[in-house]
Amino acid sequence: MICANLEVSPSGHLTFGGRDTAELAEKYGTPLYLMDERRIRENCRVYTNAFRKHFGENALPLYAGKAACFKRIYAVVGSEGLGIDVVSPGEVHTAFLAGFPMENAYFHGSNKADADIAFAMEKGVGTFVVDGPDELAAVDRIAGERGIRQKILLRLTPGIDPHTYEAVSTGKVDSKFGVAIETGQARELAAQALGMKNISLEGFHCHVGSQVFEEDIFQRTSLVMLRFFAQMRADFDFETKLYDIGGGYGVRYVESDGFVDIEKRIGEVAACIKTTVAELGIPMPKILMEPGRSIVADAGLTLYTVGSVKRITGYKNYVSVDGGMTDNPRYALYGSKYTVYAAERMNEAADFPCDLVGRCCESGDIIQPDVLLPEPKRGDLIAVCTTGAYNYSMASNYNRVCRPPIVMVDGENDTVAVRRESLEDLTQNDL
Ligand code: LLP
Repeated sequence: MICANLEVSPSGHLTFGGRDTAELAEKYGTPLYLMDERRIRENCRVYTNAFRKHFGENALPLYAGKAACFKRIYAVVGSEGLGIDVVSPGEVHTAFLAGFPMENAYFHGSNKADADIAFAMEKGVGTFVVDGPDELAAVDRIAGERGIRQKILLRLTPGIDPHTYEAVSTGKVDSKFGVAIETGQARELAAQALGMKNISLEGFHCHVGSQVFEEDIFQRTSLVMLRFFAQMRADFDFETKLYDIGGGYGVRYVESDGFVDIEKRIGEVAACIKTTVAELGIPMPKILMEPGRSIVADAGLTLYTVGSVKRITGYKNYVSVDGGMTDNPRYALYGSKYTVYAAERMNEAADFPCDLVGRCCESGDIIQPDVLLPEPKRGDLIAVCTTGAYNYSMASNYNRVCRPPIVMVDGENDTVAVRRESLEDLTQNDL
């Protein structure tokens, strides 16, 4: 099976986190997002154990909430000892309401409005990841108005191409994000930050991309970053206390995808950082990483019901389900691949070629083209796997479609973490 938490029951049903998907679909209806809490916890522990083993206590993995943001998830990652990366007032608000310890929150985003900055300070967000000079000035001013000294990291662009898809590549010099080391602007901005009364510069951040499989990506990035830290020490006598390497480890969506051994990779990154730090004669900073996808992707699965099967003689077949690009826009946006199963017919031959499409009024509403299923019929249950990351968080109400609920399964228990949107929800802001 494509994910470790999937199996087939004796009756030929797909099970997820040990639970029969057909029973869950029957109980909650479709479309339905399922999330496997045990799997989320296991994924968190890969990071916390590897961090402890390779960096000691002086390190903290942060969960990047943009991958999946709702109250329950913050409770889960918080109880696993992770910090969080938040990127908007909405994410700050959600984590705050969930009771997350906000001093372990790192506030990202390339364009924070004054109101966003003030809101995050009010909620006690521990550290701001400042993206550029305009924001730095604003944080200094607003912190001054509030009578606080705000801890910050500066986001740098190390000039590294992670060779992933363009929409999620963020570390190159010409990126929208951060300040470039190569152009000298990073050094200049750091100097400015050091001169500011209401700013406490703790260190530096970078994030080069997402869904990255390249083995040495964090090593190459770290060489550039650590050399910059050495320059900061030489030029300004500044010791970098915190180094945040960003997120990005790739996950397996289809059989042909690689598998990233995160524990092993973190070991290699740690070895590289320790050697380089020693060579450069700089102190070892506290290490942060910001995994999103690799915490939640394979802990998610979406269930749909087939509505119509269209056979165009001599051309192709379409299987339409009751969700689509509204709950999973990733094929429409990035051409992303997914593994699809007929959840109640797992022991039947999958020999019917089709495009799995959604209910929206556009031809681009494709969940996955070129899928093989047992010849489907109206009412069949379809499972799309590995949908835990960037599905719910990118869902929309296009065509005024209601967003599905999120049901968390945890062994024998299943609980609604986000309820199904209602028609009333859709119109509640309409005047
Ligand atoms: N840190 C920063 C600053 C980020 O921008 C991101 C993702 C992460 C951490 C987490 O990266 P991860 O471990 O999840 O790869 N919507 C796209 C993904 C966008 C990623 C944006 N930033 C998708 O569906 O593939």
